Amino acid sequence: MLTSAPFLPVPIMLWTLVLMLVSLSSQMEEVWDQPTCTKGAVSVTRGERAVMTCNTSSSLHSITSCQIIPNRTDCQLLFKDMTLGNISQDGWQFCVQETMAQLVIEKVQDTQAGQYKWIIEGLQRNIENVQLKY
Ligand SMILES: *[C@@H]1O[C@H](CO)[C@@H](O)[C@H](O)[C@H]1NC(C)=O
Ligand SMILES: *[C@@H]1O[C@H](CO)[C@@H](O)[C@H](O)[C@H]1NC(C)=O
Repeated sequence: MLTSAPFLPVPIMLWTLVLMLVSLSSQMEEVWDQPTCTKGAVSVTRGERAVMTCNTSSSLHSITSCQIIPNRTDCQLLFKDMTLGNISQDGWQFCVQETMAQLVIEKVQDTQAGQYKWIIEGLQRNIENVQLKY
């Protein structure tokens, strides 16, 4: 009995470590990005300005967005794995900040109507859809 005494603390230490890891991982799982994007649909008429925004509660890692053109099923890629910064191309303006991603179309054209899919990567991966009605 006496000889096993020095080994007793080992399982206790292991258990403490296991419990610490379990509580640490459960704490990490409780942090959610909680993206809030422009709700439902954005309605604009030709030539108007359209804005779509997604905000998150934790830092953004990257943003991917594609557009599903009406009567088609494929999602046409607009920008992929975008990190912090601004991009301007073909009348689209993308802006990604720490906790906000924004798509601005200065003058909406009919080809820009449809559903926009946002793949938001922060601590988790979230997919949000915003409709641009024309
Ligand atoms: C996102 O955050 C900005 C600034 O904090 C706010 O003006 C905007 O309404 C928010 N958008 C959404 C969709 O929650
Ligand atoms: C990016 O664009 C936003 C508006 O969409 C502007 O507020 C911001 O200053 C721009 N940032 C840079 C680095 O140009």
